[in-house]
Amino acid sequence: MSAFTPEQEKVLQAWTERYPYPNMGLLEALRQVQEWHRCVTDEDEEYLAKLFEVPRSRIHEAATFFPSFTAKPTGRHRIGLCRGLSCCLAGSQEMCRCLEKKLGVREGETTADGKFSFETTECLGACDHGPALIVNDELQGRATEHLIGKLMGEMK
Ligand code: FES
Repeated sequence: MSAFTPEQEKVLQAWTERYPYPNMGLLEALRQVQEWHRCVTDEDEEYLAKLFEVPRSRIHEAATFFPSFTAKPTGRHRIGLCRGLSCCLAGSQEMCRCLEKKLGVREGETTADGKFSFETTECLGACDHGPALIVNDELQGRATEHLIGKLMGEMK
C-alpha cells in the first residue's frame, strides 16, 4: 500500500510529466514528499524510484545530498541557524544557545510535541545580515533573542 493519498499520488505523477525529461521533476517531488511527511522515508524513496523509473540509489543520493530533505521527521516548523564564519562572528553561537534554551532541545533535535526542529546550516547567503536564520524556508537576518522569541510566538 502506498504512503500517499490518491491526490498526493496525482501530484507526484504530475512532476514526472511537467518537464521534457521526467528526472527534472524529481527534486520537486522530493520537496513535496518532505512537506507532506516531514521526511523522506525508505518507502518514499522506493515509491519515487518506481514512479520516475530510476534506480532507488538515484533517489537516495538526491534525498541525502540536499539538507532540506531529512530521513527522520522534522518538527512542523523548521528553524535553521547559519554556522558559517560571518554568522559566527556576528553571534550565531549565542543564538544557538538561545534557541536551545527556548526550545528545550539541542541542535539537530525536535521538540517532544513535534512543533519545532532546530538545526544548523551551511551559509545561507546572507552573510552581511548575520546571524542568519531560515525559518520554514524564509530567511531572517540579524537574529536576536527578541526576534527568535517573536518568531516562535507567531508559529502555531
Ligand atoms: S555565513 Fe551565515 S549567511 Fe553566510
